[in-house]
Amino acid sequence: MQPKTSAQTNGQPDKVIRYSPPEIGKTVSVSFYLHQPHSIVSPTLEKKKSALLVVDGSLDKAKTDYVVFLLKKQLDNIHILNIGYGPKNLARVKQIWTSMLKVHPDVAVALGGGTTCDLVGFASSCYHRGLDCILFPTTLLSMVDACIGGKTGIDFGGVKNSIGQVHYAVESHCIFPFLDSLNQEELISGFSEVIKAAMLFDENLLQSIEKLEGSFNLGQDWFSVVSRGAELKAHFSEQPFSQRSKLLYGHNIGHGLETLSSIHRRHGDCVAVGMSYELAIGVVSGLVKREVWERQNKILKKFKLPTQLPANASFAKMKEKMRKYKLYKDDAYLFVIPERPGVIIEDGSGYYCRLSEKQLDTTFKEVNKLLI
Ligand SMILES: NC(=O)c1ccc[n+]([C@@H]2O[C@H](COP(=O)([O-])OP(=O)(O)OC[C@H]3O[C@@H](n4cnc5c(N)ncnc54)[C@H](O)[C@@H]3O)[C@@H](O)[C@H]2O)c1
Repeated sequence: MQPKTSAQTNGQPDKVIRYSPPEIGKTVSVSFYLHQPHSIVSPTLEKKKSALLVVDGSLDKAKTDYVVFLLKKQLDNIHILNIGYGPKNLARVKQIWTSMLKVHPDVAVALGGGTTCDLVGFASSCYHRGLDCILFPTTLLSMVDACIGGKTGIDFGGVKNSIGQVHYAVESHCIFPFLDSLNQEELISGFSEVIKAAMLFDENLLQSIEKLEGSFNLGQDWFSVVSRGAELKAHFSEQPFSQRSKLLYGHNIGHGLETLSSIHRRHGDCVAVGMSYELAIGVVSGLVKREVWERQNKILKKFKLPTQLPANASFAKMKEKMRKYKLYKDDAYLFVIPERPGVIIEDGSGYYCRLSEKQLDTTFKEVNKLLI
């Protein structure tokens, strides 16, 4: 993938999001490019001599060649590690550490989706107690979510993201045309995180989403919406940790569904189902107007995101999983629910709607009637 003359940019991103998470005391950046730039502005790379570029090898080789082309403008010493695509496990982290020990890079660079970004971020966080890391996300989910907020981790002992660190990528470069090879289902699944952010924080963004065509394209409209979704997450990461659980809208039911071992579904699809059910819980509990839920679900359906639990998903089993999740406290299931776009329900002790086991069971029956 060489820069196209028709779409050349001078290295200046079309949008730069700078944010300063309180726990690191410095500013990190996420740059969005509508077209392929023929160079990137990277204050980090300017100071480095060698990089380990870790690549999801199932991507087309042209993407790797292109990122090497960009990196070479700033530093000569680039080592490529192709880790293919696979589980986010310790074996693959060890592979990265082994290369790091061999190469002694000044910076680690990831090219891939959330899986690769998480693996490289986690490996970097431990290597010599913290190596700078730059991300080139290649999925919509990783552009709007995984490359922002510093969360890195692997799945261990059968539990998703059970081992991890907070290690912010110093720079993320989101090159929109990288999404050209991603299938529609993968793209739209990641988009549920943008709809979530709009429901939680931004009525204007929700209106822009409503105006989009139902299928993804690489044009300016989608670019603006996607990069605004990323911006919301980044600015949210500037809040104290105690506030960040607001991002977990759709994630309680969504997590229950995602971790049911009998059912394999994309994270974003599970979040969409979670949003549908959790907002319905708000409706049934008298906290949310039915029109708000209908509006949200109309949007989810327009993008062909699921709004119903699969018929074979056992709610009893999902609750077992939910009881082990961070949104189960003091014998209550906690749900983050927007009352309307931009306004989150608060119960006096946090941004939650709390339901006991019994309340959840009763509410769930009513929710199912709403969803018919
Ligand atoms: N750290 C965070 O804050 C955070 C947030 C959300 C998700 N995640 C993690 O991200 C992971 C999921 O990542 P994901 O959904 O971005 O996808 P992924 O990295 O798991 O990739 C999904 C598939 O798409 C392929 N792919 C990636 N980019 C492509 C492209 N441009 N063209 C064609 N194929 C491409 C991959 O090879 C793979 O087959 C999960 O492990 C999740 O836990 C982390």
